Amino acid sequence: MIKKCLFPAAGYGTRFLPATKSMPKEMMPIVNKPLIEFGVDEALEAGMSDICIVTGRGKHSLMDHFDINYELEHQISGTVKEKKLKDIRLIMDKASFTFIRQREMKGLGHAILTGEKLIGDEAFAVVLADDLCVKDGAEQGVLSQMVALYDKYKCSIVAVESVPENETHKYGIVQGTRIDDNLYRVENMVEKPEPGTAPSNMAIIGRYILTPDIFEILKNTQPGKAGEIQITDALLEQAKKGRVLAYKFKGKRFDCGSIPGFIEATNYVYENVYQE
Ligand code: G1P
Repeated sequence: MIKKCLFPAAGYGTRFLPATKSMPKEMMPIVNKPLIEFGVDEALEAGMSDICIVTGRGKHSLMDHFDINYELEHQISGTVKEKKLKDIRLIMDKASFTFIRQREMKGLGHAILTGEKLIGDEAFAVVLADDLCVKDGAEQGVLSQMVALYDKYKCSIVAVESVPENETHKYGIVQGTRIDDNLYRVENMVEKPEPGTAPSNMAIIGRYILTPDIFEILKNTQPGKAGEIQITDALLEQAKKGRVLAYKFKGKRFDCGSIPGFIEATNYVYENVYQE
């Protein structure tokens, strides 16, 4: 059983400045719901009720979002507006939230290692909230699909999708051998390869299931691409032992870390998901 889901959320979100000058990028709304809430919904659907968030300076609104706002709730109690808080109240009933601060920005691997105190010695999921995933006709969310695979294979799993060759330099790229429908045993992985050098076009998107030995590996992982501690490099150590799978998930993913992806997600959610 995977109970815990880690959300690295300490980054600055510079691509959305000035919006993110004082607001966490994870709080940017897709229509009326902050990005992080979509990720939490996905984790809850997959049976994870311990939401662990790695925050940083200026991220208080993340904590407030998942807490009671007495003043507001008192004001709108008994009015038609109250129903707008129904979903977030359900989340708060079902999940517990813990937070830890990442003091230095040393990369995604470092952010995940910062979460060790909240995770302990068990397998866990990681969600990068700026990759918004929707079912788009699939039966389950991406994390639920990955949990089913974890139950069978008991090793780390990364969600992947095929990207055009001229975009491979934006992602962690995996290379592997097909072992089942949409499932590959990873043999090689590289973080943001230089254009023209990618070993494949299978890109990691922001959903991971990690076994807890990743923490010891991360402690010994040297800074890699961009001088940062990369989760991709740590996963390569597990992959060398045959302990990483790549899964081509069912559903649709939007890169909400980029402005075009954010706009596309907004239009999609407004037309297909949002209910007044
Ligand atoms: C991170 C990871 C990268 C992965 C990507 C998915 O990069 O380092 O391997 O492909 O997330 O969104 P970032 O987008 O944070 O630069």
